[in-house]
This record gives sequence, C-alpha cells and structure tokens, in this order.
Amino acid sequence: MSTLTQTETKTASSPASLILKNPVKAEDEYRYAHLLPHFSQDRYPPLTPFEHVDPGHRALNHPNPRAFLDNATSVAELTPNLGSEVRGINLGELGSDARDELALEVARRGLLVFRDQQDFIDRGPDFYKAWGSHFGRLHIHPASGHPAGYPEIHLVYRDANSTFNFEISDSITSTLWHTDVSYELQPPGLTTFFLLAQPETGGDTLFTSQVSTLKKLSPPFVAFLRTLTAVHSGVEQADFSRSGKRGGVVRREPVEHIHPVVRKHPVTGEEALYVNRQFTRRIVGLKKEESANILNFLYDHIDKSGDNQARLKWEPGTVALWDNRITSHSAIVDYGESKERRHGARITPQAERPIPALDGLKLDN
Ligand SMILES: [Fe+2]
Repeated sequence: MSTLTQTETKTASSPASLILKNPVKAEDEYRYAHLLPHFSQDRYPPLTPFEHVDPGHRALNHPNPRAFLDNATSVAELTPNLGSEVRGINLGELGSDARDELALEVARRGLLVFRDQQDFIDRGPDFYKAWGSHFGRLHIHPASGHPAGYPEIHLVYRDANSTFNFEISDSITSTLWHTDVSYELQPPGLTTFFLLAQPETGGDTLFTSQVSTLKKLSPPFVAFLRTLTAVHSGVEQADFSRSGKRGGVVRREPVEHIHPVVRKHPVTGEEALYVNRQFTRRIVGLKKEESANILNFLYDHIDKSGDNQARLKWEPGTVALWDNRITSHSAIVDYGESKERRHGARITPQAERPIPALDGLKLDN
C-alpha cells in the first residue's frame, strides 16, 4: 500500500504541481516575484470623467455574437442564472471582435470562468494592460499594491507573513459581499481576475447575480427601490490603509458618489440591485433608521440567497471575468492556517456612470 498522501500523489503526477502545491518560497525562487505587491508613495490627482463606449454594444451587430465560443471544447453553466465555465479557448489569442463578443457574453452571464489559461497569465503585465484597455479606461486603485511600474494591475496578496487584502480581523467571517470600487463616479464594468499562486485548497471566490437578487423582490418594492439613490464611499477603505494595514498608502484622496439603487446595464438593459455592504453608506433622502433598515434588509438578502450565487473554485491557470455592474462577489479567507501563498491580479476597466433603471432619476453629484 502506498504511503503517499493525497498531496504527494498530486506532486508526483501533475506538471502543474509547482503551482498547485505552493508553500511560500524566497522571493528569488518565486516564478512571479516580479509581480509581487509594490507600494509606491506616488500621489494621483482625482479621476476625471470620460465617455465609456461599451464593447458589448459592438457585438450586438455581429452575425453570431457568440462566435468566439465556436472552438470551445465545453461551455457549462455554473448555475442557471449566473456563470459559465469554458474550456478549450485561449483567451490571449482572442482578437478585437472576439473580445467584444466576450464582453457581451459576460454581460449576459455575469461571470465567465476560463480554465487552462497559463498562456494568458504568462504574457505578463504589458499584455494585461493592453487586454484590459479594450474594455475601458483602466482603473488605478488608490490604496492597493501593484507590480512595480504597473499601477493599473490591482493585486490581492496573502502569505504566511503578511496580507495586503482588505480583511477585517474582528469579524466572525471573511465573507464581505461587494462590487469593486463602487465609490468611483464610473465604477468598473468587465473585470478580469486570475491567480498567480494559490493554496492547495481554499481561497474560493463567491459570486452572486444582482439581477436575480432584484428579481426575487416584489414588484411594488422594486418600484420603490428604483426611485432611490445611495451614497458609496471610499473613506473607510482609505482609513484602513492609513491605519497601517494593507501596505499603508493612499495615493488618491477617497471619494464618495451617489448612484441609483437599481441600475440598468447599458447593453442588455437588464436591471440590477446596486448596493453593497462594503461601500454603500446610506440612502439619500431617507431618515437614518429607514436607510439602515432597508440597506440591512438588502444586504441580508444578498448574503443568504444561495439560489442566486455561484462559487468559483480556482484551478491553476483559471482566468475569471465578471461584470461588476450586475454581480457582487466575496473572497473567502479559509486558508489562513496553511501558510501558503495566494497571489491574484485584477485588471479593472472603468465603465459608464451607473444608469438609473428609472428614467430621469436625479443623481445629485
Ligand atoms: Fe473585489
């Protein structure tokens, strides 16, 4: 009888094992050491508005808007209403038309998970920037670590010695549903994320459909929500960094913006709930208790509705793309005891200012 453990068996048989089983090594041994978090002291001016042209619009005119999937060996839905897993496509080789179609498909499915994308991942940060620029102006995060010289690449990072993630240590759970940087005037649309290193198990990512979340609510309540706007704030995230955690830098002063509580996707026209526990602070025009109760009800609905959610288990070489306008997500930090490295990179193009589902809804700033 073999005395190999499950881990050792994988190590002996899998060429991907150096990535799959990934104890922290000295930086000079680490394959992606050049992409480790760097915390420059650069200062950035406020972001300026720009006109976003969504690439998904162009795909609507293609003869077959899903042609980029023609050569896939499998396309499997993760759940009926959220997420598809694709095999057999090399994302790095998709041309301009195919990228437009990809954007439309992500808008329709919320989340696309591409397996076996080592080629894409190994093309490096100049390629990441060129890739993301197809989908919108690249966001530079005000407080996160980035590869030296590449502030457009947002990194999440944790190893045995450090974490540069937004983690609240005195919470009973690491689950924190959010959409990325929703405090910006023009928050992200199609977002690309992948792991350069991952624990052998754990560190999955949760996603939920904010379209489905909204559809579960009663028509009169949705009609009321469509009349509301809410303040989204980057102040707490900046304060977290200023307190010395997460690298300790704030390169752009935090901002607050007002967004509709129900937004409309610019390409599909689908309506989605657009509040999140991490960045939404209050509903405009309501009394404090009214705002808090409605937001807490909505957050509770998002948290517990497993019927709207999908869970992504990362495999080495996985690249995920999601539409931040119609989904929320949460990290899961369940691998903290393992001393393994988890190193992720996000490419975050900004999109349009959120479009209210209710025509003419007044946005105050
Ligand atoms: Fe996020």
